[in-house]
Amino acid sequence: KSVIFKLWNGNASSKMLNPRLQKAKKDYLNANKHQVNFRIPKEAKKLTSKELLCDLKNQVKIRTLDGKESPFSNMGWETIVPRTVIHDLYPHGFKTCAVVTSAGAILNSSLGKEIDSHEAVLRFNAAPTKAYERDVGSKTTIRIINSQILAKPHYKFNTSEIYRNVTLVAWDPAPYTVNLHKWYKNPDYNLFIPYVEFRKKHPLQPFYIIHPKFIWQLWDVIQKNTQERIQPNPPSSGFIGILVMMSLCQEVNVYEYIPSVRQTDLCHYHEKYYDAACTLGAYHPLLYEKLLIQRMNKGTDSDLQRRGKVTLPGFSAINC
Ligand code: C5P
Repeated sequence: KSVIFKLWNGNASSKMLNPRLQKAKKDYLNANKHQVNFRIPKEAKKLTSKELLCDLKNQVKIRTLDGKESPFSNMGWETIVPRTVIHDLYPHGFKTCAVVTSAGAILNSSLGKEIDSHEAVLRFNAAPTKAYERDVGSKTTIRIINSQILAKPHYKFNTSEIYRNVTLVAWDPAPYTVNLHKWYKNPDYNLFIPYVEFRKKHPLQPFYIIHPKFIWQLWDVIQKNTQERIQPNPPSSGFIGILVMMSLCQEVNVYEYIPSVRQTDLCHYHEKYYDAACTLGAYHPLLYEKLLIQRMNKGTDSDLQRRGKVTLPGFSAINC
């Protein structure tokens, strides 16, 4: 529990994690699967909340594959990706938005009504609403999915209703250098073939693939603003989703990303699987993502601790 108190106060560190999670982080640092170059600044100045927000706004540009770059251009992807980029799909943006993480701690929160009251709601991966409406709501505007959802038959991406009637945003990490040829040949999970298939079957449903440049821009911002070396792996879907919504909404309300008093090792609200790594990170630099989000929180301590709610300004609402 004590690491949660430290998260609320913004002074958690990986040294507070259990030995298994510390070992996992060390192993990921040694493996450096995505060939990340660390460029750790000598004297990292701790930015204020405002500076951090402006840093994000200036450095992180939401970008999806447009099919114009090789090797995608050679395969006719210009006509496969949606004609309208995500920003133009929502030209007026959204006033207030909800980002609903899949954490077990959202069970018994009764946050459903509040979540549905926002103009747009973002959910992740295979997280259902059916049978959990009281706690997570029922509205879904955008769903962020990692490449495993498309590639593993278990998720029934082609047939499950949860991937229909929403805007889909898929992602997979390329190498840190963002070599699209290497990425296409060797993604973490092959999302390209199912993506093309789904686009052909449902041409009117907006469905994007995040440009890996965006993923690694986010990683750079996390590392730049953290005193320790972070896992050299992409940020979690949660962090990616928060940044997508900060680009589209005037205000972003994030639920159970930073854990509330309901904190639990239950990984997901919809699955009986227990692992502290889901909340504190093993593969993803999740603890550091959360510390960064905590620093930008404009909401109250009571909303954070009792409701697991963080409120962030969208990029359109800040003057830098
Ligand atoms: O596990 P999954 O990636 O589908 O969950 C969606 C996001 O919710 C994660 O990427 C993570 O940011 C967040 N999450 C969390 N704590 C959990 C489970 C998920 O912060 N216990």
